[in-house]
Amino acid sequence: MKQKKLLYAGKAKSVYHTDVKGKLIVEFRDDITAFDGGKKDVLKNKGSYNAEVSAFFFEYLGKNGVKTHFVSMIDSRHMVVRELQMIPLEVIVRNVAAGSIVRNYPFKEGTKLDPPVIVIDYKDDSRHDPMLNDDLIVALKLATPAELRKIKKAALEINRLLFDLLAAQGITLVDFKIEFGRQGKTICLGDEISMDSMRLWDKKSGESLDKDVYRFEKGDVMATYNRVAQRITSSSKKR
Ligand code: C5P
Repeated sequence: MKQKKLLYAGKAKSVYHTDVKGKLIVEFRDDITAFDGGKKDVLKNKGSYNAEVSAFFFEYLGKNGVKTHFVSMIDSRHMVVRELQMIPLEVIVRNVAAGSIVRNYPFKEGTKLDPPVIVIDYKDDSRHDPMLNDDLIVALKLATPAELRKIKKAALEINRLLFDLLAAQGITLVDFKIEFGRQGKTICLGDEISMDSMRLWDKKSGESLDKDVYRFEKGDVMATYNRVAQRITSSSKKR
């Protein structure tokens, strides 16, 4: 497969056309950003750690019946994916209160959210990704009510699968963000699931094992990403 021209460059990934119809190549770059792009750096190997963890999760989810865009890895940072018509929604699933819901609502950090809380934001940097509700999503024609039901059901199933996988590695899945797209009439999981898009806490020490280490300068970001990538991908619970 040959990489062709750039389709889209985001803050941390670039997506390329290929010579194969319906297939794209995603490059996981070493760029890291936080606070709406207000904090930016390049951290060597970050892209590879995130690609490795994303591929591992996509394969695990795929084996467990979740439809994803993942096809294969070319090398440590280039992933072949099925082309989707992306839906501009950031679907966030929260198991424990942290981050923006603690800042914006009267939740105490660390409070267990059972059942998990789904928050859906509009993916639009120029508007700072405002939170949506079901009526707004339908009125804006971002998704039909039937698609929204499928998205929420898939998000909760993905949460259940990842929560159990990570718990077995001594990690609490606090929250994470995923994105979906359409392949024909099918709703598929796209984008990535990595340390950049999850909040992970060590069960014993409570320490952050994700992008919060970068956001809040809690320690050596790449040492953390390296350790957590090894912990996650050494998980034997693949089925
Ligand atoms: O900032 P907030 O608490 O709303 O983030 C919830 C979760 O979604 C975190 O794991 C964060 O890393 C992820 N997220 C993301 N991309 C965004 C917003 C949030 O990956 N644009």
